[in-house]
Amino acid sequence: MSSSELSTELHIVILAAGKGSRMHSSLPKVLHCIAGKPLLGHVIDAASKLNPNKLHIVVGHGKQQVMAAFSEMDVNWVEQTQQLGTGDAVKQALPFITADSNVLMLTADVPLIQSDTLAQLCDSMASFPLALLTAIMPDPTGLGRIIRDTSESAIGIVEQKDANESQQKIQEINSGIMCARTTELTKWLNNIDNQNAQQEYYLTDIVGLAHAQGCLINTQTVNNHSEVEGINSRTQLARVERLYQRVKVEALMESGVTVLDPSRLDIRGEVSIGKDTSIDINCIIEQSTIGEDVSIGPNCVISESHIAAGVTIHANTVIESARLAENVSVGPFARLRPGTELSRGVKIGNFVETKNAKLAEGAKANHLSYVGDSTVGKNTNIGAGVITCNYDGANKYQTIIGDNVFVGSDSQLIAPVEIADGATIGAGSTITNKVEKNQLAVSRGRQKQIDNWQRPIKNKPNK
Ligand code: UD1
Ligand code: CA
Repeated sequence: MSSSELSTELHIVILAAGKGSRMHSSLPKVLHCIAGKPLLGHVIDAASKLNPNKLHIVVGHGKQQVMAAFSEMDVNWVEQTQQLGTGDAVKQALPFITADSNVLMLTADVPLIQSDTLAQLCDSMASFPLALLTAIMPDPTGLGRIIRDTSESAIGIVEQKDANESQQKIQEINSGIMCARTTELTKWLNNIDNQNAQQEYYLTDIVGLAHAQGCLINTQTVNNHSEVEGINSRTQLARVERLYQRVKVEALMESGVTVLDPSRLDIRGEVSIGKDTSIDINCIIEQSTIGEDVSIGPNCVISESHIAAGVTIHANTVIESARLAENVSVGPFARLRPGTELSRGVKIGNFVETKNAKLAEGAKANHLSYVGDSTVGKNTNIGAGVITCNYDGANKYQTIIGDNVFVGSDSQLIAPVEIADGATIGAGSTITNKVEKNQLAVSRGRQKQIDNWQRPIKNKPNK
């Protein structure tokens, strides 16, 4: 990335200390999610792509919770004890920042920001001591407005609450993202005050100070204002989620995936989908790889799974941490739980639940079964209503079923138990012991017949 070519160090500060009062939530705002990932996580991802010398995150409100959510990240956590404003927040990070560096300031509540945009903004530090990322908003209400002089140079930012009527009409807004040279930034931050409508130390006031000192201020306006859409309320959270999903789903369609209704598919985390795969309405796909020519019916949830080419997933199927090989067919109404591995051509039908189960090529469980902690051999047929009883209330046990086995309907296989190749289990059996190769095992009571059976008769009520 071009910013790393600069000889000066790059430090990134992400502001994440605010309470997020407008969310009305006990969860810190920056931990609310877009596409299943906290807002702060999205911003950390964009920042990390610039390879900064150091990433500083200013935390305050709910800081333990925020730090715990990102405990594995290599960041410098900076504490802002009192939330006195965005200017005060950046100031807390200054002691950790090298003097001759550049500082990119981001806010954790603007999650769609792209690293390319940030890199471009940082690049302008070669010629400007301060650069602002702005946007033209159809509705700028609530945001800081960019004030320009007659020659169109940016000379200040006025917050909504401090803006007069004519300033409120300005549609160019402050994204909250800026880049500055550390030496100048330190001076400006030492000179801001809290004489404003919110009695806060505004970061945005550095723009007026820079202008007063005769500094040239660079502004870069994003092409698509969606990229700097901020989140202060749950309404905005939902709107940004839709914006994010639209981009993800359009990229999938561009790459050759058929999506029946782009507004009814949600993608979370890293997802790759092969061409000519078709996805019906109301699906959620999370952290998964899906091959070509897969057919996904309506109302399916697929997470942390690998689905090979040519698989058919019928309506209302839930798949979690599973691997499906080519041409497998599952559902409708199937539930594949973690540790499910289905080889080529396996069929899992309606109301079948699997967990820690490996089914070999061509095996079938078509109706109403539970297959857990099991291995099932090639071309074996699990009849309707078969249950592997894997749990005794304390421990779990394995059921091992060989190739070409036929398990009759409504049988219970009490684990640990083994059924060898070619064996047959009669319907309604309870199997507790090993069934040998090619044996028939039946454990149900024999049928009795009683002729002319007289059904009990109801007593006649007294009149
Ligand atoms: C801010 C900008 C506004 C801009 C908008 C863009 C200021 C004064 N205003 O307004 O010009 O248009 O973002 O989205 O900067 N934070 C702290 N410590 C604090 C206060 C805030 O860390 O003391 C953090 C918050 O957690 C948040 C970010 O700074 O991530 C922005 O704060 P917020 O209160 O959301 O500012 P806005 O009113 O949106
Ligand atoms: Ca905000």
